Amino acid sequence: MDTAIFDQYESNVRSYCRSFPKVLVKAKGAVVTDEDGREYVDFFAGSGALNFGHNPDYMIDAMVEHLRSGALLHGMDMFTPAKREFLTYFEEHILAPRGLHYKVQFSGPTGTNAVECAVKLARLNKKRQNIFALMGAFHGMTLGALALTTDRCSRDGAGVAMGNVTHIPAPYMFPELDTVAYMERLLTDDHSGAEKPAAIVLETVQADGGIYVFDPEWLRGVRALCDKYDILMVTDDIQVGCGRTGTFFSFERAGIVPDIVTLSKSIGGCGMPLSLVLMRPELDIWEPGQHTGTFRGNQLSLVAGKAGLQYMVEHDLPSQVRRKGAIVEDYLKNEICPMDGRLTYRGIGLLWGLDLSGLGGGDAAKRMVSLCFENGLILERVGRDNSVLKLMPPLVIEDELLLKGLGLLKKSLAQLLREG
Ligand SMILES: Cc1ncc(COP(=O)(O)O)c(C=O)c1O
Repeated sequence: MDTAIFDQYESNVRSYCRSFPKVLVKAKGAVVTDEDGREYVDFFAGSGALNFGHNPDYMIDAMVEHLRSGALLHGMDMFTPAKREFLTYFEEHILAPRGLHYKVQFSGPTGTNAVECAVKLARLNKKRQNIFALMGAFHGMTLGALALTTDRCSRDGAGVAMGNVTHIPAPYMFPELDTVAYMERLLTDDHSGAEKPAAIVLETVQADGGIYVFDPEWLRGVRALCDKYDILMVTDDIQVGCGRTGTFFSFERAGIVPDIVTLSKSIGGCGMPLSLVLMRPELDIWEPGQHTGTFRGNQLSLVAGKAGLQYMVEHDLPSQVRRKGAIVEDYLKNEICPMDGRLTYRGIGLLWGLDLSGLGGGDAAKRMVSLCFENGLILERVGRDNSVLKLMPPLVIEDELLLKGLGLLKKSLAQLLREG
């Protein structure tokens, strides 16, 4: 397997290929195949872009039909049938049944662009510069989003000062601290030193921060705080939306309605780039063209994305996620954690973290990623010191494959523990 060209010419910034150093040639569902014909169970799912698995037939068919039809492949934000069908389906089958009234903006096709767009819109509406974000947050790599993102390595890459963000301790960091009361104190204490924010931006489950599921009560507290002080609540559902947590939107379990929501990754179907910003209609004060992007509303992504939404609705994917999530939780609890008392786990839906911080931390997690890959399982590590293994299979993974992947995790852990 020749990988010399990558090592020789591709920038040092390359990352995942260091953990999975094989040339990957094929993928279907939750299985990826390398150039030597070796198969891997995929517990990575394109970091959340592949909730529907690799190359689902119904999406490929829809895209091929679109490609052969002579329809536009690039349309900026012009009217096209693909956009009409996506928006119609999204409104009728996702928003309306949940009683949600949002306008939809197609930002540039990456998640970070949706976040840029959301914070710009919040600042524009409230005419305030500051944003509250949470420690442990990941919101993207462009400067506006990076200012919210917390991990040191990413921030060190910025090269300029990043301001206008106040980072609040996440609720799990100091369990004895009421972080909603803390934020209220920042807002009301004339010696707090904090500027009133336009928005509080958060993930309801911190994924790259280490798989921390925020309590519904806490989320309701943040919603109430935003209402009381005229602050916008922005939830970043880029990774944990689209069914990942067992409901379409991750905030549904708290019974709250954010003012602005960002979506990306799996909203484009099978890895096709697409990003959305949902906003309460009265917040839509953009001037025409005030936030643009050449590749916004990518036509093939709209086609694949609509097919994905239809699949999700017709197969009640969220309830399957809840059922499969229980399988993972049971396995972590009864098969994995008893292997060593220092292991802990947490998660929701089909997003779980196995925390190795008590068991060698980042080095142990790095070794585990390698062992898993050698054994035929792809997963990544996240969180402080990169010490948490993130289990995030496609939502459509078959039970048998799910258990196979969990078995490979167990086998790899046994090897790690033997190595000492
Ligand atoms: C919660 C969240 N927000 C934003 C982003 C940025 O998305 P992208 O990498 O497409 O820019 C990510 C990416 O992992 C994410 O997980």
